[in-house]
Amino acid sequence: MVAKAQKSLWKSAWKLLLEGQNSPKLPYGTPVVSTVSATGIPYSRVMVLRGASKVEGELLCYTDRRSLKVSHLKQGGGFMAWTFWSPTQQLQFSCSGPTTELPERVCRKTFLDLPKHSRKAYAALSRPGTRLTEPSDGLPDDWTDRPMNQTDYAEVNFLVLKTKITRAEILQLNREGNRRLLVERNVQENWDFQWLVP
Ligand SMILES: Cc1cc2nc3c(=O)[nH]c(=O)nc-3n(C[C@H](O)[C@H](O)[C@H](O)COP(=O)(O)O)c2cc1C
Repeated sequence: MVAKAQKSLWKSAWKLLLEGQNSPKLPYGTPVVSTVSATGIPYSRVMVLRGASKVEGELLCYTDRRSLKVSHLKQGGGFMAWTFWSPTQQLQFSCSGPTTELPERVCRKTFLDLPKHSRKAYAALSRPGTRLTEPSDGLPDDWTDRPMNQTDYAEVNFLVLKTKITRAEILQLNREGNRRLLVERNVQENWDFQWLVP
């Protein structure tokens, strides 16, 4: 039987995740997301949480399909790890799971709904991480003057990634005693809860 305190902690974390979607100013809006290279080197970066589904136990982010993280997913095990921290709630949520690309038609629809300033992140002429001799944003020189339809070319770079959480940990800091909870997805697609030593 799942203890009430375990369920309550899980619920608190999901409340923060749901609030954090598309809200980079909120603590859970900009998680640190990690991938591992084919040679086993870990890479972490901040991303914006673009979607969270408590029912499915899934998280979404947007990225450039030419980026390093996408190569890591293809070459490595296809897993991503996410870490969130709320200083007000003193709650760390970390999770990982297999991460896949949403279908092309979904990516296309999502991209076409993006305003021009958001398209910028996917519109660099060379892939993110390309070495430069001078500092540059990588965008076409006339980006600012371009009408919306001349930014459509970036659609091919735009990708929505979905992590199906298979393992999560919640760490609740508290002066009277920290609590650490492990949550794992079982074969029946339900969650198993287990207290851990913090
Ligand atoms: C506040 C903030 C939010 C960011 N959001 C995203 C994002 O949602 N998607 C993304 O691909 N990169 C985002 N970035 C840039 C990444 O941190 C990273 O620099 C970029 O994705 C390249 O990563 P990679 O080469 O390791 O794949 C964000 C950076 C900051 C500082």
